[in-house]
This record gives sequence, structure tokens and C-alpha cells, in this order.
Amino acid sequence: MNQLIYFKNKKVLITGGLGFIGSNLARRLVGLGAKVTLVDSLIPEYGGNLFNIAGIEDKVKVNISDVRDEFSMRYMVQGQDYLFNLAGQTSHLDSMQDPFTDLEINCRAQLSILEVCRRYNPNIKIVFASTRQIYGKPEYLPVDEKHLLRPVDVNGINKMAGEWYHILYNNVYGIRACALRLTNTYGPRMRVKDARQTFLGLWIRLLVENNPFEVWEGHQLRDFTFVDDAVDAFLLAAANEESNGHIFNLGDKDVISLKDLADLLIKTNEGGRYILKSFPTERKQIDVGDYYADYSLIHSKLGWKPKIPLQEGLAITYAFYREHLEHYL
Ligand SMILES: NC(=O)c1ccc[n+]([C@@H]2O[C@H](COP(=O)([O-])OP(=O)(O)OC[C@H]3O[C@@H](n4cnc5c(N)ncnc54)[C@H](O)[C@@H]3O)[C@@H](O)[C@H]2O)c1
Repeated sequence: MNQLIYFKNKKVLITGGLGFIGSNLARRLVGLGAKVTLVDSLIPEYGGNLFNIAGIEDKVKVNISDVRDEFSMRYMVQGQDYLFNLAGQTSHLDSMQDPFTDLEINCRAQLSILEVCRRYNPNIKIVFASTRQIYGKPEYLPVDEKHLLRPVDVNGINKMAGEWYHILYNNVYGIRACALRLTNTYGPRMRVKDARQTFLGLWIRLLVENNPFEVWEGHQLRDFTFVDDAVDAFLLAAANEESNGHIFNLGDKDVISLKDLADLLIKTNEGGRYILKSFPTERKQIDVGDYYADYSLIHSKLGWKPKIPLQEGLAITYAFYREHLEHYL
């Protein structure tokens, strides 16, 4: 697939388009000549940030609205060729403390977006941003798409439902949709203010500020996807009819413990320190232990594989925040 030709002049809607992954996707699509519209509510606790579109602000349409607003979404989806559906509440802990907001955004709004597509734009193609979180505590590693879904928090349950509404609408109504189960994604424009999106964001912020960061236990194994690689997966999934009705894991060939990740980050930064601690109770209850994905399905069907090694991705991310941290606090 030649992305350069494929997305030129295509009409693309990105929900959550001012957020971390959505804005990186928008930047790539603008470069490919697509006509990009972003929908984002800019709720302060989430990852949306107008600075994420610095440099492309004149090349995208931005609609500050909420995906829970059916009338706004009805207007936005009409005439679009693609919907990258990334708007979401991402904090696992917030989903436990405020479960109904998570339900409204990650579950109910997803159904309402799909209904709007069914009624007003059934030819649209949708790629949904799902999450590894829905597997819960793995029974075996690496986790493939056949693994049981046993979410350990409210966010996981709602994302699981959101994902399956997409597959259902594909299967029953022929609205072409697929889902990517993202693993820990990192890179420029991630939320670093706090650990709501990912602990790694907060680590990077504290490191840039010359403060120690906390590593909880540290033996947990994880895989990480650099955001440009995640963007590749979204584009491949959108452009390829083979993806319709399918769910794909993203992952990385390298697996690393959180303590080794902390050491690597410090090596990249040429300095810094961290404190090893045990898990806070409310986190321990929803922790999934070791996780890494088998991503051979997306590799064989769509030809995706991660290209950016972790150390290189961390260096790019770190350099970004050394320059732009003030816009993310
Ligand atoms: N970053 C990761 O590691 C990761 C891992 C697994 C899944 N995901 C999924 O990928 C998607 C994007 O995540 P991200 O990391 O870019 O997070 P993010 O918080 O930066 O992006 C989500 C965006 O959605 C917007 N949003 C939230 N609720 C909204 C609403 N009701 N209406 C309109 N906009 C709303 C937020 O303002 C934000 O800009 C999410 O759906 C998330 O569940 C991310």
C-alpha cells in the first residue's frame, strides 16, 4: 500500500484528535495530503492539548466537542471516508473512582457513534483504538488475540464493550470496522503531567525536571510501542479491506522489566534517579502483572511490525520534552 497516494484528499475524522496518538496520526495524515478534521472535548484531565497540533493548526479543522453529543457527531461523520475513533477516558484508576463517566465515554458514546454512522454514513471505514487492558491478568505469554478477556477494572470492561460494538456493526450492518489493541504507547505529545495516561509520561517529566521518579516493584514485564509505529498500524488498518471485522494486537519484539526500563531511561538521559517502592494498594488491586503481546496476526495480515527500537524512541521522546515541557504541565 502506498500511503502517499492512498490518503491524498481522503476525508478523515479523528475523535480524540488533540490527544497523544490522535494528534500524531493527524500530523502524519496532513503530510499525506488527507483532509483532516479533529474532534476533541479538551477535558483537562485527559491528554488533549492544542500544542499537539502546533505547526499543522492551519491544515486541520478542529471541532471542540464531545463524542457523547450525538447531534454533534451526527454532523461530523457525514461525508467522511475514514473515522479513526480514539477519543477515550484512559485512566484505569479514574475509571474506578468515577465509573459512570468512563461508561458514558468508552461504552455508550461508542454505540452512539456507530449508530450515527449506520444512519448517516454507512460507507465510512472505522479503526477503533482498543487496549491490551481488556485481557486482564494474562494466563499465558505472549498474549494473542485468542486469550480470554477478563478485564480487571471498569475501564477495561467499557473498552471491551466499545471494541465489540465496532465488530458487531461490521458483522451485522456491514459498516467496515476493525480494532487495534494497543499496548503501552509512548512518544512525543503523550501526557506527562501525571500518570493518568501512563506511568512513563510522569517518569519522563520528573526526569526532565531533575526529580527522582518512583518505580513500583519493577519486575513487571512490558512491551512498548513508539507512537509512529502505532500510527503506521492505524493507517494500514484503515487502508486495507482485510482488516474489516478483525481485532489486532500491537506489541514489540523486545520485552523489558519496568526496572530495566527505568535504567534505560536514565542511560538515555545520562543521569537521573528513581526510588523503588511497593505498589500503592489501590493500584495493586488493578495491576495485571506481566504483559506482552503476540502481534503476529497484524504482521501476517497487514504487514505491520514495529520499527523504532525502545532506546531510540525514548531518546526522541526525552528530547521532545526537554524542549517543550512547559506546554504539557
Ligand atoms: N497511550 C496508550 O498507551 C494507549 C494504550 C491502549 C489504548 N489506548 C487508547 O488509545 C486512544 C487514544 O489514547 P491516547 O493515549 O492518545 O490518550 P489521550 O488522552 O491523549 O487521547 C484521548 C483524547 O480523547 C479526548 N476525549 C476524551 N473524552 C472525550 C470525549 N468525551 N469527547 C471528545 N474527546 C474526548 C481527550 O481530550 C484526548 O485528547 C484511547 O482510546 C485509549 O484508550 C492508548
